[in-house]
Amino acid sequence: MNESNVQPCGPAANVADPTKRSFLAALLAVGAAGVGAVLALPVIRFILYPLLAKTTEIQWSDIGQVSELQPGAAPMKRLIQVEQRDGWRKLISEKAVYVVQGDGGKLKVLSPICPHLGCSVAWNDGSGHFVCPCHGGTFAADGARISGPPPRSMDELETKVEEGMLKVHYEYFQQLVPTRQVLS
Ligand code: FES
Repeated sequence: MNESNVQPCGPAANVADPTKRSFLAALLAVGAAGVGAVLALPVIRFILYPLLAKTTEIQWSDIGQVSELQPGAAPMKRLIQVEQRDGWRKLISEKAVYVVQGDGGKLKVLSPICPHLGCSVAWNDGSGHFVCPCHGGTFAADGARISGPPPRSMDELETKVEEGMLKVHYEYFQQLVPTRQVLS
């Protein structure tokens, strides 16, 4: 009888090859780590949302009923509620805008932030101009630049009318440049 064909029997036959066992354990660990990573992804995205989300998501703001907004020769100053989303937080702030008469009697809305260095431009009844208190920039009633260091006219804000309500999309613009550029 050839001894090499004799198979071990008894308890020794049930002991698994240690190399095979560690390979299976490693495979299980990799599988568990993969499943864990897949399950953790939504949680990580939720936690990082405030960092990844656009922080300048500004909603449309009501200004007033078009029928009640008749700026005439002098611009009308209006305070609006601006709702902005910053990550999970909803921020509401009050901003001033000017409603003026545009071409063909169409209403347009101007930002009072000076395109020079960002001071608040105010309407001056005496001079019949917008005047910037910081460096004396002046603008016409429709926002057109007249004089001083501002490199462009006052910035016009996007508007729309819904059920008679004039709405504005408040935005911020790049200063010290000759053309209107929205800041993202
Ligand atoms: S900030 Fe308005 S003129 Fe300088």
